[in-house]
Amino acid sequence: MKKKVSVIGAGNVGASLAQMIVQSAIADVVLFDIAGGIPQGKALDISEACPLWGSSSSIIGTNDYSHTENSDVIVITAGFPRKPGMSRDDLLHANAKVVSEVAENTSKLSPNAVIIVVTNPMDVMAQVSMKVSGFDSERVMGMGGILDSARFRTFVAWELNMSPEDVEALVLGGHGDLMVPMPRFTTVKGVPITELISKDRINALVERTRHGGAEIVALLKTASAYYAPAAATYQMVKAVLLDEKRMLPCSAYLNGEYGKNGIYTGVPVMLGNSGVEKIIELELNQQERADFERSVSAVKLLVEKLNL
Ligand code: APR
Repeated sequence: MKKKVSVIGAGNVGASLAQMIVQSAIADVVLFDIAGGIPQGKALDISEACPLWGSSSSIIGTNDYSHTENSDVIVITAGFPRKPGMSRDDLLHANAKVVSEVAENTSKLSPNAVIIVVTNPMDVMAQVSMKVSGFDSERVMGMGGILDSARFRTFVAWELNMSPEDVEALVLGGHGDLMVPMPRFTTVKGVPITELISKDRINALVERTRHGGAEIVALLKTASAYYAPAAATYQMVKAVLLDEKRMLPCSAYLNGEYGKNGIYTGVPVMLGNSGVEKIIELELNQQERADFERSVSAVKLLVEKLNL
């Protein structure tokens, strides 16, 4: 039997993700939204592409949570995206309400699922989802680090005029403007970029990465990024479904790791069938530690605003 993924929110990110899952045939998909007709229409459109993709996966669109029953993975993209001038944090209260409703409805019907949270401000929404679902923290995680690292990889590749595939990068901390791109752990086929790019230029690439989401919002005006966010989420879904044991930067609940307790933030983890199977702790230097602390404090502030 095929695995089952429920994608909650049939907007830009959710529908793009649904397409990737169905096209690659790694699971059947249930696409849920509160808006009538939207998930049904997008699911029908994706279904009609299956003969062309050679995919045997199925997808249904629905406004009824019962169709999500017994999912292996629940992806939460429901909520409001950013508009120009808004930070991810401006979405806090509105999206907390949406995400609580989604976590409550889906967790009851799929008690053994892994939950991947995309809705912003993502680290806080992951914490909301864990609390409302009552799931163990290893089964609730957020998507941010893979996307931020992909942006950093892209900018490094352009700087060196080399293939982005050969660039590996790491971004830690909360998925917000204070995220912490890590040049010391960013390499081209194992060669640290600190040996390939000047300090000034690295700083410029780091800044562009930090504001990578806002750069796209400013261009699109009525939407936020979705192709790369969907591709990053797809990587997590695949790692869980196929038990890949991949090392990826994700938002995970820290229980003493990195000296932090009771907070979600971006760290390298090992992702497999049971979710976050391991949190990988890195030795941070003084500057990295200070930046990480600042970023985690910003997440903490938002969590406090919600009285979680
Ligand atoms: N239940 C289910 N779906 C909902 C609910 C709800 N309570 N509230 C809103 N939605 C749906 C909307 O109807 C819409 O179809 O969520 C979808 C969001 O889609 P978009 O507006 O296109 O937003 P998108 O670009 O997909 O971003 C979704 O991901 O990257 C983050 O910041 C982004 O928080 C945002 C989320």
